[in-house]
Amino acid sequence: MPIRNDRARWGTVSQLLHWLIALMVFAQIALALIFKQLRPGPELFALIGAHKSLGLAILVVVVIRLIWRWFNPVPDLPTTLKPYERFLARFTHGALYFLLIAMPVTGWLGSAALGFPIRWFNLFQVPNPIAKNVALGHALFFTHSILAFALGAVLILHIAAALRHHWVLKDDTLRRMLPGFVPKS
Ligand code: HEM
Ligand code: HEM
Repeated sequence: MPIRNDRARWGTVSQLLHWLIALMVFAQIALALIFKQLRPGPELFALIGAHKSLGLAILVVVVIRLIWRWFNPVPDLPTTLKPYERFLARFTHGALYFLLIAMPVTGWLGSAALGFPIRWFNLFQVPNPIAKNVALGHALFFTHSILAFALGAVLILHIAAALRHHWVLKDDTLRRMLPGFVPKS
């Protein structure tokens, strides 16, 4: 399977990065849903610490994915799509990239503004990019929560669209994001 993308399919690197990010984001949302149920205590702080570390790791992998995308051809959307479907596909992918950057950035800045240090998976201290400002910290976490709802909605749309391509439209959109796909002709 080619390492790079071509006009008909995603290459190995893009596929690996897509499914790695998907796994990390599902784990990230699961962590948040679990720690929202907990009362203050060591368990809550451990899970929030893991959420912060994983969130920053997601930021790094998403930036790598965007750089790789910049240097590779992007597969064409199926020619059978109606104009509104092309618009929806582009809008959803753009929104996903925006949210995958905005969520970790608001989390990181919010944490710094509230004066909480981040130790990345207990390995090293992450620099706080801004000075303490509690009001700003609360505003950033309010934004983080709103963006979390938007991410949930866009992900439902994204996954529903992928399954619709596969099961209803019966085109190659999902297959070309999976290993072993050989384009026709
Ligand atoms: C947290 C989970 C996920 C995230 C953040 C995510 C993100 C993305 C992004 C940003 C793209 C755009 C690729 C680009 O244009 O560079 C994409 C493409 C794609 N995703 Fe996901 N995705 C997730 C889960 C899934 C799942 C569960 C499926 C399958 C059921 C899926 C199927 C696809 C497919 C088939 C494409 C390629 C679309 C095309 O070829 O035009 N994704 N994904
Ligand atoms: C892609 C990355 C991220 C995703 C998808 C994500 C997702 C979420 C979700 C779903 C919540 C629960 C929202 C709510 O119901 O209020 C949350 C809360 C939180 N996140 Fe993130 N997050 C990400 C990155 C980060 C980062 C990088 C940090 C800090 C460095 C962070 C810190 C927090 C904190 C402290 C909370 C609790 C806020 C509160 O309860 O007011 N997150 N996150």
